[in-house]
Amino acid sequence: MAKILRRERLVPNLHLLEVHAPEIAKRCKPGQFVIVMPDEFGERIPLTIADWNIEKASVTSVFLVVGTSTHKLSLMKQGDDIPVFVGPLGKPVDINKCGTVLCVGGCYGIGAIYPVARAFKEAGNKVITLLDVKANYLLYWEEKLKSVSDEFHISSRDYYYDCKDFVQHILKKIVKDKKESINQVFAIGCTYLMYACSQATKPYGIKTMVSLNPIMVDGTGMCGACRVSVGGETKFTCVDGPDFDGHLVDWEELFARRKSYFDDEIQSLCYWEKKIFP
Ligand code: FES
Repeated sequence: MAKILRRERLVPNLHLLEVHAPEIAKRCKPGQFVIVMPDEFGERIPLTIADWNIEKASVTSVFLVVGTSTHKLSLMKQGDDIPVFVGPLGKPVDINKCGTVLCVGGCYGIGAIYPVARAFKEAGNKVITLLDVKANYLLYWEEKLKSVSDEFHISSRDYYYDCKDFVQHILKKIVKDKKESINQVFAIGCTYLMYACSQATKPYGIKTMVSLNPIMVDGTGMCGACRVSVGGETKFTCVDGPDFDGHLVDWEELFARRKSYFDDEIQSLCYWEKKIFP
């Protein structure tokens, strides 16, 4: 059991979850994730750790409401107990001093990229942050990300920001306009964002790491649900990742596998909503 210290809606459809988890808070590193079950009937869902506080013994994640389990999680309140909260899982990000790192985050990945950007900055790198949102009202943690960035950009599809374009185009523009070379790109967000960033950097040969988000069950390498192909080899995202070289990922397979339970998820959500809101 882990007690919820804070659960709040950050922007439409994205929620922050801060949980009292002293053992996890002591051990977590950037890029790792937790497995959460909102109740004993729900599925196990992986959430990337977006922040932690050892004094407060808390671990924070940002999650997108997509199916029944995340809907259930979004209705939980401060003081509620989460029956399963396991972690930290997965390999931490390989943080090194390499020069200039471009961190890209979109959707829940805006939260998830924060500890990665912070760690690269603390390691002495120049950090350029690029956040992708469809519209200005979907942006959160702007100041937090700015505080760990040397340079800050936003790509959006509305007229609120200067950079009105798709993330891959803004990313390419940053790469082309820079006098110094960008040594690494790190992208976290929806599968399409990570795919698009990897495609954008490929012609420039910039190392691009992505934090993959396949369906997971146990999160400890035993079920095979999170299988992905990287460089022609089968990898389990939960134990071999979640970070992989975006230029080597078999994206077509990942897109297809993520859709495996799409119809069942819709049915489950409709059934649950009828029960909760008859
Ligand atoms: Fe089961 Fe990764 S989630 S092997």
